[in-house]
Amino acid sequence: AVERTFSIIKPDATRRNLTGKINARFEENGLRIVAQKRLWMSRQQAEQFYGVHKARPFFNDLCTFMTSGPVVVQVLEGENAVAKNREIMGATNPANAAAGTIRKDFAESIEANSVHGSDSPENAATEIAYFFAGTEIVG
Ligand code: CMP
Repeated sequence: AVERTFSIIKPDATRRNLTGKINARFEENGLRIVAQKRLWMSRQQAEQFYGVHKARPFFNDLCTFMTSGPVVVQVLEGENAVAKNREIMGATNPANAAAGTIRKDFAESIEANSVHGSDSPENAATEIAYFFAGTEIVG
């Protein structure tokens, strides 16, 4: 079914001017960017967005990294968009990411891993609503 997923191009990637190259990966693989904006997350936004990871040892560093520069938040639409985007991104740790994936080709580390993508349609809906009003999504 056609579905939507939430994506973030992270500060390591915006710093290296990789937004267009990453967007090309989505488009070449059949995902449509139906909403997009560049913003600098506040500490509070990062902590709330990653709230599910609050108890993890990497939480504090992750929030520091995600507020270290601008990000591009996006809604991607397409057939099985959540799973498709996870394939395009590759494994969280670039050392484990398959050839041809965004993280294999661009990520610097498990933390500075260039992109975030929702892990389920339910979380996608929550994450989309956190950054976008319905009127900002144009399918
Ligand atoms: P993301 O998909 O945005 O979800 C949580 C993020 O935490 C993950 O990508 C990584 O950027 C970051 N992270 C840092 N260390 C770890 C780790 N050991 N395991 C999982 N995620 C980590």
